[in-house]
Amino acid sequence: MVSHGIHRFWISAVIVAAMSVCAHARGTVIDDSNDSTAVVNHPSAIYRPFRPWPDNSHTRDSKVLVQEPIVNMQYHMGPVLTSAIHVYIIWYGTWKNSQKSIIRDFLSSISAPSPVPGPSVQQWWSTVQTYTDQTGANISASITVAGEHEDSHYSHGKVLSRLTVQEVIRSALAENKGTLPVNTKGGLYMVLTGEDVMMQDYCRAVCGFHYFTFPAKVGYTLPYAWIGNSGKSCPETCAYPFAIPQFMAAAMSPLKSPNNDVGVDGMVSVIGHELAEISSNPLINAWYAGENPSAPNEIADLCEGMYGPGAGGGYPGTVAVSKFGASYNMHGVRGRKFLVQWIWNSDLNSCQGPH
Ligand SMILES: *[C@@H]1O[C@H](CO)[C@@H](O)[C@H](O)[C@H]1NC(C)=O
Ligand SMILES: *[C@@H]1O[C@H](CO)[C@@H](O)[C@H](O)[C@H]1NC(C)=O
Repeated sequence: MVSHGIHRFWISAVIVAAMSVCAHARGTVIDDSNDSTAVVNHPSAIYRPFRPWPDNSHTRDSKVLVQEPIVNMQYHMGPVLTSAIHVYIIWYGTWKNSQKSIIRDFLSSISAPSPVPGPSVQQWWSTVQTYTDQTGANISASITVAGEHEDSHYSHGKVLSRLTVQEVIRSALAENKGTLPVNTKGGLYMVLTGEDVMMQDYCRAVCGFHYFTFPAKVGYTLPYAWIGNSGKSCPETCAYPFAIPQFMAAAMSPLKSPNNDVGVDGMVSVIGHELAEISSNPLINAWYAGENPSAPNEIADLCEGMYGPGAGGGYPGTVAVSKFGASYNMHGVRGRKFLVQWIWNSDLNSCQGPH
């Protein structure tokens, strides 16, 4: 969703806090008296996405199913990322090598050169690839980390805003020593902030967002995303279900994260969310549902908090458990495992995991 002109990751989770109010706001009428199980097999039924915001007073049972009869995912004629996608990472603040390696491995897993056991990250991306542009060209299957830039000295401080993120990108491009080119064809700029960096609305209403840079600020229109490591600030919100908010602690325990890093493992799913949306809606005029382009439901928004069959209302769904007790739903390169949310498949009219 978009607020102040920026796509907001997770905002639809607020819906859970006031489920029927927001549902009405989205033009959907929810009848609480209906037996929730009755809609399980309804072809257009989806699980209401979930995000446990800290001061959520919502006390409903988990696993509540909410029927959403019409998800009108529409194409609005703008471009999608059909050329090979080049991801340029800006590591802002403090990052351990082990953390960078989890994120690089996730990104490299999307178009893994050699076969990875299923369910794989590559199979997960195949849902994103079903989205096309006006010419019928699909979103690219090829994603590579094409460049990285270190901003370990917090060039714009430890508190960022939506606009200073663009300045971080501008500075990184200006400092470019060949590693961070301006790539207007398939370039995607990802500002990843370390755990001691705060962002406007972070934890309260966003875990990540995507938009495009303004020529007046950066010199070019480049799709970009910001995602923060919530490890120290709000893992119970942005690294859920590897951390659990207080009000849910009686109902469930946190899941063990697959790469032993709650903040970064949680971030991987947000990165997946933003990548899927930036690829299908890079200029906020391609694929989204809803009437309002400043508050669209994009292809990952609709499946927030869903990681496996049966997910809904805070329950992540049935997922695999490794021999070390870690929860995951897809395999990546170098034996990695990840837990990444599902993506809306507009042909099936439902959320879909790796297949
Ligand atoms: C219960 O849901 C069905 C669709 O599954 C709907 O047609 C019906 O109107 C709902 N019940 C009530 C009391 O509104
Ligand atoms: C391209 O998109 C079409 C339409 O959604 C889909 O049927 C086809 O499978 C996609 N191709 C790939 C390679 O994903």
